[in-house]
Amino acid sequence: MMHETKNLLVTGGAGFIGSNFAHYWLARYPAERVVVLDALTYAGNRENLDALEANPNFRFVHGDILDTGRVERLLREEQIDTLVHFAAESHVDRSIHGPDAFLKTNIEGTHSLLKAAKRVWLDGEGRAHRFHHVSTDEVYGTLEPDAPAFTETHPYQPNSPYAASKAGSDHIVRSYHHTYGLNTTISNCSNNYGPYQFPEKLIPLMIANCLDGKPLPVYGDGRQIRDWLYVDDHNRGIDLIIRNGETDNTYNIGGNNEWTNIDIVALICDLMDQHHPRVSLPRERFWDIPVPKIDSPTRQPLLPRPSCAHHDSVPHIAAKLLVRNSVMMTTMTLRRVGCAICTPYVTPYRS
Ligand SMILES: NC(=O)c1ccc[n+]([C@@H]2O[C@H](COP(=O)([O-])OP(=O)(O)OC[C@H]3O[C@@H](n4cnc5c(N)ncnc54)[C@H](O)[C@@H]3O)[C@@H](O)[C@H]2O)c1
Repeated sequence: MMHETKNLLVTGGAGFIGSNFAHYWLARYPAERVVVLDALTYAGNRENLDALEANPNFRFVHGDILDTGRVERLLREEQIDTLVHFAAESHVDRSIHGPDAFLKTNIEGTHSLLKAAKRVWLDGEGRAHRFHHVSTDEVYGTLEPDAPAFTETHPYQPNSPYAASKAGSDHIVRSYHHTYGLNTTISNCSNNYGPYQFPEKLIPLMIANCLDGKPLPVYGDGRQIRDWLYVDDHNRGIDLIIRNGETDNTYNIGGNNEWTNIDIVALICDLMDQHHPRVSLPRERFWDIPVPKIDSPTRQPLLPRPSCAHHDSVPHIAAKLLVRNSVMMTTMTLRRVGCAICTPYVTPYRS
């Protein structure tokens, strides 16, 4: 059944995918309203939304998804009919060093939103609504080489605290449909790339390090394979699911676009050579980085560990400003050279 959208609440909308989603939505549906709720953690950057601030259909609210009362008030006062939930702790490496924040934000935070949505959309007079939860394909675990792609029926086998916390949140969302009748959908996507990504993730980290003349830390032998999805292809997939997807369905969104990490890094170096020829790349150090030992080859694809935290070594904002243009330029070029496909594949699973 088609869901008609008018007023959206976008959690985590100052982060990478959420901010791209806010831009995408207001460009595509200029008559609709987008309210962003974001706690502005280290990963959130209000400047990602600068271009929207003057738009009367846009509002930024600085707040925490754990504040159920605040969310409830927002849902009422803005007459929200569609909640798109991006807010999360999202970096696998950080979840290994500090899992608590991941369980709190990703599981308790998601539950807080569900409670608020139930109170406003179901317990009151009732309103046509949609709760869309953005999740990850990491809930399915690690894909062996040559294994077929994950489908939505693949058993959950999360291998990191991040993936486990996202898996937990998926189950809670599903339970709110089955128990209370909340209209929910879930999407599980692969690795996104695009503008506004925080420079701790592979592509912006490599670009930032190139610009700083720093080594390019590649985990292991760099042969880990990842599927890469351009962020606006992801947003188009979410758009389709929100408006046309069936309640209680899970949808995988992939790029059908697999690369080894080392090939991505080599491509970035080639692009840097073309666009920033004066940057000297410490390429010979690609293979020089000390590699943490891992016990089992099956763990390898899951744990890319950049050995340096860019945000610790460069003034935070300066790094973001420096990186943003280059990331935009580079991702656009990646698209042109065929790194990205233009059509996301979205596959439904009827439970
Ligand atoms: N980036 C990817 O490749 C990828 C892949 C698969 C799934 N996902 C999922 O997509 C979503 C968005 O990912 P991203 O890469 O944009 O993340 P991000 O880390 O760039 O942004 C997360 C945003 O959430 C906000 N936030 C964190 N805790 C909050 C809280 N308690 N209350 C309100 N806001 C809070 C942060 O301030 C930040 O703006 C996440 O749920 C993530 O699990 C991302």
